[in-house]
Amino acid sequence: MVVSQRSNNVATVVTIENLKDYVDQEVTLQGWLYNKTGKGKLQFLQVRDGTGICQVVVFRGNVSEEDFDAGKQLTQESCLRVTGRVKAEERAPGIPGGFELDATSLAIVQIAEAYPISPKDHGVEFLMENRHLWLRSSRQWAVMRVRATVVSAIRDWLDEHGFLNVDTPIITPSAAEGTSTLFEIDYHGEPAYLAQTGQLYNEANIFAFGKVYCFGPTFRAEKSKTRRHLQEFWMVEPEIAFCNLEQLMEVEEQFVSYIIQRCLTDRAAELQVLERDLSQLQNIAPPFPRIHYDVAVDMINKAAAAGELVPGYDDPVPAIEWGDDFGSPHETYVAAQFNKPVFVHHYPTQVKAFYMEPDPDRPEVCRSVDLLAPEGYGEIIGGSERMSDPQKLLESIHRHELPEEAYDWYMDLRKYGSVVHSGFGLGVERTVAWVCGLGHVRETIAFPRMLGIMRP
Ligand code: 4AD
Ligand code: MG
Repeated sequence: MVVSQRSNNVATVVTIENLKDYVDQEVTLQGWLYNKTGKGKLQFLQVRDGTGICQVVVFRGNVSEEDFDAGKQLTQESCLRVTGRVKAEERAPGIPGGFELDATSLAIVQIAEAYPISPKDHGVEFLMENRHLWLRSSRQWAVMRVRATVVSAIRDWLDEHGFLNVDTPIITPSAAEGTSTLFEIDYHGEPAYLAQTGQLYNEANIFAFGKVYCFGPTFRAEKSKTRRHLQEFWMVEPEIAFCNLEQLMEVEEQFVSYIIQRCLTDRAAELQVLERDLSQLQNIAPPFPRIHYDVAVDMINKAAAAGELVPGYDDPVPAIEWGDDFGSPHETYVAAQFNKPVFVHHYPTQVKAFYMEPDPDRPEVCRSVDLLAPEGYGEIIGGSERMSDPQKLLESIHRHELPEEAYDWYMDLRKYGSVVHSGFGLGVERTVAWVCGLGHVRETIAFPRMLGIMRP
């Protein structure tokens, strides 16, 4: 397949998302053919350039004979360069739509071979195997654009609220979120692990910088396939000195509300492509409801006794024993009782990580908080107040059968100026799934890593 260097009459090269600034002017678009219709003297080319899709109208009377024939040869995903006049046309299809290009010249860059992903429906397995091509489809394109906005909203809010970005290592010598999901690697003959979290290092960093965040990929060797779990996912983790559990929840609700509102303003066209019901997102603003784990357990068990179904599923709400962690039907049921994300706080100490501060009056529960998103998206944030007392922390390390010598530096943090401090981790993929209204996190990252899937 030859890539042609032939150039047509080139005007100012612009992108589709900026067409609104060039109405009635002559411009050049460069992109790929998404679809085409037309007959006789007229061809309608749907051209995408990475920033949107624009309808290009090729009328035989307006272009040379050679260029008109070039248009006819274009197959799906063929690459072209086209020059023409921008017309504001309310009914013009496209993303964002409303503008079309009246072609005056057109050149083929490459004619694509028969493209495996046609506009018809394909199975997910096939699409996942062709993820490198699937990303060009308009829904996948929209999801990745929303993701980019989630990421920049995260950084903007934290940067504007006094948090310093200090990133933490990916190669680590010890576990932080349980030993069952560690990915082990060989560090020059020593065992090492891919980071499950940056939190322990964040805790060191707050004593140097006050309020910090790390933001990067994290790794969990999750042994089960669910629609909420990836092996590699991105997590932003803010950590704050002189902050207790109640203050932490206030930070979280401001932060999450900002992310949602930014997506609504900056990604309206993409959310429309995804046919997202915006009314579910528009009301996301502080304060979020807060309920104790005990209350959540009561709610679940009352629903189970009454034979209620998990919203969106045919299965009844399963009962839960006090002290157990929630399964995803429990989270879905609890979250469905509210039209905003809900904080569930004071989980049983036995189901949470070793570093969480126990409730001083009731040590069987801890000063932890999960944020559950509405509409069945489940836990998007996990966080807590951290243990600040050196003696209690050492006991917890022993209780969890963790190797004491691997945590000596972490113990130091409790010796030199220990303070009440708290932090949380927000999972980017689950947040994007919620914003976009997707049934599975696999579509929220360009190249997902899932159990048994590592290609492409
Ligand atoms: O609740 P988690 O495990 O919390 C921590 O890692 C803490 N150290 C964070 C902190 O306090 N600094 O994970 C936090 C979030 C979850 O709420 C979820 O959104 C996401 O990370 N997450 C996953 N996302 C996709 N796939 C997985 N396997 C995930 N595991 C956690
Ligand atoms: Mg969690």
